[in-house]
Amino acid sequence: MNTRFLDACWGKKTDFTPVWLMRQAGRYLPEYMAVRSKCTFIELYKTPELAAEVTLQPVDILGVDAAIMFSDILTPLEPMGMKLDFVPGPIFDNPIRSMADIDALRIPEMEQDVPFVLETIRILRRELTGKVPLIGFGGAPFTLACYMVEGKGSKDFALIKRMMYSAPAVYSALMDKITQMSIDYLNAQIKAGAQAIQIFDTWGGILSPSDYATYVLPYTTRLINGLNSEETPVIHFVKGAGTMLDAVKKAGGNVIGLDWHVNLDTARNTLGPDMAVQGNLDPTVLYATKPIIEAEVKRVLDENGDRPGHIFNLGHGILPTVPPENAKFMVECVHRLSQR
Ligand code: CP3
Repeated sequence: MNTRFLDACWGKKTDFTPVWLMRQAGRYLPEYMAVRSKCTFIELYKTPELAAEVTLQPVDILGVDAAIMFSDILTPLEPMGMKLDFVPGPIFDNPIRSMADIDALRIPEMEQDVPFVLETIRILRRELTGKVPLIGFGGAPFTLACYMVEGKGSKDFALIKRMMYSAPAVYSALMDKITQMSIDYLNAQIKAGAQAIQIFDTWGGILSPSDYATYVLPYTTRLINGLNSEETPVIHFVKGAGTMLDAVKKAGGNVIGLDWHVNLDTARNTLGPDMAVQGNLDPTVLYATKPIIEAEVKRVLDENGDRPGHIFNLGHGILPTVPPENAKFMVECVHRLSQR
């Protein structure tokens, strides 16, 4: 069993730097497109055999040091009562606008309401025996609230911010409910066999540091505190949080995910030696020539220096038009250039 990824999460020394890629199962892989062409995205993640199959593809094709279960951060919102579709971006027919909408949301019973997620994890643990660890994941409460209130992706997040500032009781009722659901959802994943948990706060960085501390941090902190994570490391990725890493650290967890807007050395100095980090290559570097990809991998490794507790990753998800061989080359470079 390759334990490099888990060792690095716990801040232990490894023989070389482990690497995986956010959104490593997906449309840039022809093997994914072959499975995906026969069903919708929702059908794919609700069919455990297929979800497990596409989860394993990047492990075999790229040689990464961890698998991440195939699903979406929005998956548990459907059994809460949100009418979800992907067109291909996510869209909700019934966005949250009032306290009555929040009262109508239910907290799912995970084994009953998302059995396919837990079954995917169980299949994967069998299939990954002797290979690499399995990462489970969920959205951070704030990022989930953004989608629930906006009803889809957004450029300015005017609706969620308006709720936050002008109807704080409504906002906090929504965040409370999402946080409770997320504790149950991620603990169910741990119980089913997820060996690490990543929390995606894709939109946490759209707020000022002071608003982040007031409106986001208390809920993420409660979520991380509520996880049965004595033996399961927690990775907390907040995109765009380079100027408020001290606050992000307060949420807890073992690893902070970094995007490419921060220098990894500076970020590690801010976070201190007791916090592992994950990141942080600009995903568009994978469009570059091989010498440039190699030089950029080396730069990120050099910024980390010989500190333990670094998991190499992109600073955000891999883009759908990236050539798979460039992703594979990046993984090879990380392994080769980080040999100790
Ligand atoms: O990392 C992995 O390989 C696991 C799978 C995974 C998906 N989504 C599959 C997916 C993970 C971890 C996610 C997380 C996710 N989903 C996030 C947080 C990370 C991030 O990228 O910021 C967010 C914000 C979402 C919401 C979402 N899902 C969007 C905005 C979209 C549409 C745009 C896009 O990038 O595709 C999706 C759809 C989605 N999620 C696809 C996949 C493979 C594409 C579906 C398809 O058409 O096949």
